Amino acid sequence: MSEYILEMRNITKEFSGVKALDNVNLAIKKGEIHALCGENGAGKSTLMKVLSGVYPYKTYTGDIIINGEKKRFRTVGDSEKAGVAIIYQELALVKDITVAENIFLGKLANKAGIVNWHKTYADAKKILDEMGVGIDLNQRIKDIGVGQQQLVEIAKALVLNADILILDEPTAALTETEVELLMKILRGLKAKGVTCILITHKLNEIFEIADSVTVLRDGQTIETSDIKEINENELVRRMVGRELTQRYPQAERVPKEVMLKVEDFSYNDPGGKGLVEHISFYARAGEIVGIAGLMGAGRTELVTGLFGFFKGKTSGKILVDGEEKQIKSPKDAINAGMAMVSEDRKQYGLILKQSIRSNISISSLKQISSCSILNENKEFSEAKKYAEILGVKAHSIEMPVGALSGGNQQKVLLARCLMTKPKVLFLDEPTRGIDVGAKYEIYVLMNQLAAQGTAIVMVSSELPEVLGMSDRVLVMHEGRLVGEIDRAEATQEKIMMKASGGK
Ligand SMILES: Nc1ncnc2c1ncn2[C@@H]1O[C@H](COP(=O)(O)OP(=O)(O)OP(=O)(O)O)[C@@H](O)[C@H]1O
Ligand SMILES: [Mg+2]
Repeated sequence: MSEYILEMRNITKEFSGVKALDNVNLAIKKGEIHALCGENGAGKSTLMKVLSGVYPYKTYTGDIIINGEKKRFRTVGDSEKAGVAIIYQELALVKDITVAENIFLGKLANKAGIVNWHKTYADAKKILDEMGVGIDLNQRIKDIGVGQQQLVEIAKALVLNADILILDEPTAALTETEVELLMKILRGLKAKGVTCILITHKLNEIFEIADSVTVLRDGQTIETSDIKEINENELVRRMVGRELTQRYPQAERVPKEVMLKVEDFSYNDPGGKGLVEHISFYARAGEIVGIAGLMGAGRTELVTGLFGFFKGKTSGKILVDGEEKQIKSPKDAINAGMAMVSEDRKQYGLILKQSIRSNISISSLKQISSCSILNENKEFSEAKKYAEILGVKAHSIEMPVGALSGGNQQKVLLARCLMTKPKVLFLDEPTRGIDVGAKYEIYVLMNQLAAQGTAIVMVSSELPEVLGMSDRVLVMHEGRLVGEIDRAEATQEKIMMKASGGK
């Protein structure tokens, strides 16, 4: 028998005549953790959707061979029966039902059609306990953060007891602590003989946990290597096709007047539990202020609250460019000169069915209209310009955003913000799911915006990014601001210490 549990041979997949996968080959050994990497749009998710039956047999060409046997999956259910489980890049949970119900969705324990809720909850608890995750099973998905949702997705896949587990960017929404937890879970699965395919843009994770790595570029297989035979620079070179020695562009930033001033800002959830408490800070024109903290520290709540998402539940004063603003909705925020790129692309961000063009222009309609009539030519040319600046990979800006790869969707959101030429820009995990090359481009853009006088407030769980880009780092812990560290003095250790409640 072959040493490979899985082989994908000469897989070609087209979308409306355009090849997303072009004769891709992938061979995975039993029991290994195999990293699959490549730039945004390289074809990673598409390849995995072919493997899991999302794209059924006959919508692609080539062969899938599992344990030496050719497979023709017509549905996701078929691949599950063959021992394949997949956790999608874009979370696929049902928002209105509970954590426990999601874990067993479609597989609810039942006797004669009657769901045994007691058993469902007990089993769900067992799985989360084994994972070492403390999430309240009774909470509805829409009430928990993206990071926790990701952990629920993993639990859901574990229920299947798969031989091959595919994780498409599972750590994008996780904080460092949770990433460590996930790594532990993966090592545990490996010890049980489960084979994992891990897609990630975080190179340190690949070197920490993978046994081997395959790089895809522009829909083609570049190379597979044993992890011991390759280093970070070589991996990046294979991904982007050129040398990329510097990860953060150098910039001489000269902060000017205070552009955003926040005084005693608080946000309380309906239950009355304080989520953001008495926060005061400022950001100057031309400055990048980083906000660090663990998940649940209230970072996202702070920026979404400032941006007007929680009408009537916030208090405090917000001044933009020296003027006090009443911000009761995101619309007020935009009118006040603010823009935001949110961590949850689907909920607060993109309209997946609509075109790249309208997703980019939606916040700038005033600028491109005269007498309330939209100038469509201008809309097209402006949207196109920003899509190009960000290097959105698409055949046309009339394509629906939902057809873009994950990283390219993020670029569309950024393009939308840039087009509004904001005075204050909130970025919540701006490079989540973005490949190394494009990350660099986004950092260059951030520097350009700062140079034009925008005050940037960036929430990020990636400490290297916080350190690499911020002039000052604010640290949050349990809803409060617990520290401010200057760029020159900031280190990962100092930030983590404060973020976890230390002095
Ligand atoms: N449903 C679709 N319709 C049309 N084109 C698509 C569709 N899904 C993917 N594509 C295209 O196929 C290519 C590969 O996309 P894919 O999502 O596999 O990339 P990826 O490697 O997973 O990228 P990322 O790192 O951004 O997630 C992209 O050019 C994308 O625009
Ligand atoms: Mg993808």
